[in-house]
Amino acid sequence: MYRTLLAGTTLILGVATTATGQSATLPLPGTLRAAVGDRMLIGTAIMAQDLQDPRHADLITREFNCLTGGNEFKPDALQKMKGTFTFEKADQLVAFAKRHDMKVVGHTLLWHNQSPAWLFQNADGEPLPREAALANLKDHVAAVIQHFGNDVVGWDVLNEGITDGDDGYLRDTPARKAIGDDYVVQAFKIAHEANPNVELYYNDYNIENPGKRERALKLIRELKAAGVRLDAVGIQGHWLINFPDAQVLDDAITEFAAEGVEVMITEMDIDVLPRRSTGADITLREAGADPYKEGLPADVQQKLAERYKAFFDVIVKHAADGVVTRVSLWGTTDDHTWLNNFPVRGRTNHPLLFDRNFAPKPAHAAVLESLKSLGGASAQN
Ligand code: XIL
Repeated sequence: MYRTLLAGTTLILGVATTATGQSATLPLPGTLRAAVGDRMLIGTAIMAQDLQDPRHADLITREFNCLTGGNEFKPDALQKMKGTFTFEKADQLVAFAKRHDMKVVGHTLLWHNQSPAWLFQNADGEPLPREAALANLKDHVAAVIQHFGNDVVGWDVLNEGITDGDDGYLRDTPARKAIGDDYVVQAFKIAHEANPNVELYYNDYNIENPGKRERALKLIRELKAAGVRLDAVGIQGHWLINFPDAQVLDDAITEFAAEGVEVMITEMDIDVLPRRSTGADITLREAGADPYKEGLPADVQQKLAERYKAFFDVIVKHAADGVVTRVSLWGTTDDHTWLNNFPVRGRTNHPLLFDRNFAPKPAHAAVLESLKSLGGASAQN
């Protein structure tokens, strides 16, 4: 991508002026964006307040080449009321990404959270008849995909469709209750018909862990057997300071890749605070201590850097053979992370690569170290 950008440009102090006279800032040395070059996408999720603050916006465009809307593309953000589409915020994000040469991924077309009830239920909360539910699904998915066209490179078609308990398989969501087990295949078909150019993903948390991983493999095989387009499986990557082991990620990526799909880490953060739950069921609430209100102690900071390094070493290894094509962090600075309010409300968390003063943390240096073996920076120079 940058190689193309550079062709026919004049390079002056990191600013390239294109033949059309537009100027585009090149990735600065020492940033994640420069380190990956054109080898993979490195993304972040925009949190609602981010774009209002130029310091956030600048940091995001310097460090990343890909954006996810933290909430802006979810069903309740785009069509809270049947037939009334509200694209403004998502459009702003897309325009911002375009101005800064960033890709946009769409999150998400179908999810049991942050989704209006009318899609799959009647006014009494009962499942709609199959045909009515399918029609709503089709209207939503087709309208959204067609609105964004090729400005969105790929979509999480289904988010979190698999059960957490080891005895289940497909989560019993309103969509499944109304349509039946083939609702997943139907969603992928509708998405592909709406725009055959865009990539389609299945995205979930904890699917790297044995147990849920087997169920994810089953779903991937079923989608492949049904002949639908499935480009990648998204491992959300909401990890903890001591769980899971990076080896688990390594094994999961290998197993997913063997099914013929790419793998993306789509929502990475590493929770440093004490908690009982793993994963990212956003409806979970628990109580828990808040020990790092005044800042992260040096030893935990170090541990966080080591954890980022261990995960990125695995990611880079699989990026080198083309299996992992994107890593997206779920936020940029520690003041704008959803983990300040999940799974315990109102804590001071430190799960990302930049602190509350926009300064890179040791974890940032650790990730850069890992990314060196990608050869991204040299690919641009
Ligand atoms: C989170 C957002 O970051 C929050 O702002 C919102 O309140 C709840 O959802 N898994 C997902 C994301 O797929 O959509 C969730 O995002 C985090 C867990």
